[in-house]
Amino acid sequence: MNAALRLRDLPLGFRVGLTGVLGAIVLGLWASLSHLEEHHRNRDGQPGVSVDDLVGAYHGLDNPAPLVVALERGHPETQPAANRRLLLSWLRSDKVGENFDNPDLGDSAPAEVLARDCLACHARKATSGEGIGQKLPLEYWDDVEKVAFSRKLDATPEAILITSTHTHALSMAVLSCVLMFLAWSTRFAPRLKSGLALLLGLGLACDFAGWWLARESASFIWLVIVGGGAWAVGALLACLLALAELWLPRRG
Ligand code: HEC
Repeated sequence: MNAALRLRDLPLGFRVGLTGVLGAIVLGLWASLSHLEEHHRNRDGQPGVSVDDLVGAYHGLDNPAPLVVALERGHPETQPAANRRLLLSWLRSDKVGENFDNPDLGDSAPAEVLARDCLACHARKATSGEGIGQKLPLEYWDDVEKVAFSRKLDATPEAILITSTHTHALSMAVLSCVLMFLAWSTRFAPRLKSGLALLLGLGLACDFAGWWLARESASFIWLVIVGGGAWAVGALLACLLALAELWLPRRG
């Protein structure tokens, strides 16, 4: 393919212009990633974007508080029934944070009850409980807070998902095509260029399929994550190849 277009052969002015465009694309990729983080971050009340945040957005989420689940199934068997009732009514109240170690509650403050009934196993240095104290400590509010709240998130309404698909699918498909042709017009190994095209194309298809399939089954969220990731890697790689082609010296 000697006659193939190489970006390096374009006139200088054209190459400078194309470099500006590629710079804008890289900036756009960065902005999309931080928008994604901003948009999904705190859906589940935990820092950072987690899989649950995404499941919440695309499928909806209804996770009861792990503490409630454990107490309701009678864990730990040794706990006096009165204490179990006390903890459950605290967890179902709307003062979970305020009352955790409320001094007015004296010995029946949840922190005290947890210390008596749970910390034999759920403390970081506990010797019983097969190491559960390391995995799921309940010593401080920071520990308890993570498992004390149920999380219910509604999936993005279908109308919004349609609008979002229509803008994203069309613009990202066009951008992907442009990046594929730019990457193709470089001197690099055809295999590398085909790999990149596969990342872009399959990544995009998986991502959008995942958006819709995840409404049916939460496990399809992995299509969104893997597809979106593959697309982003492919896009960045295409920009880098194109920039290298534009400015590296011609090959002898
Ligand atoms: C005798 C040791 C022991 C005591 C006491 C104990 N736990 Fe556990 N806990 C475990 C072990 C072991 C596991 C992991 C296996 C399992 O889930 O049963 C666990 C698991 C859990 C889990 C996660 C279970 C799930 O459903 O995912 C929660 C929440 C929990 N405990 C809360 C408590 C609370 C609250 C108390 C006190 C009221 C308590 N535990 C007292 C040993 C203990």
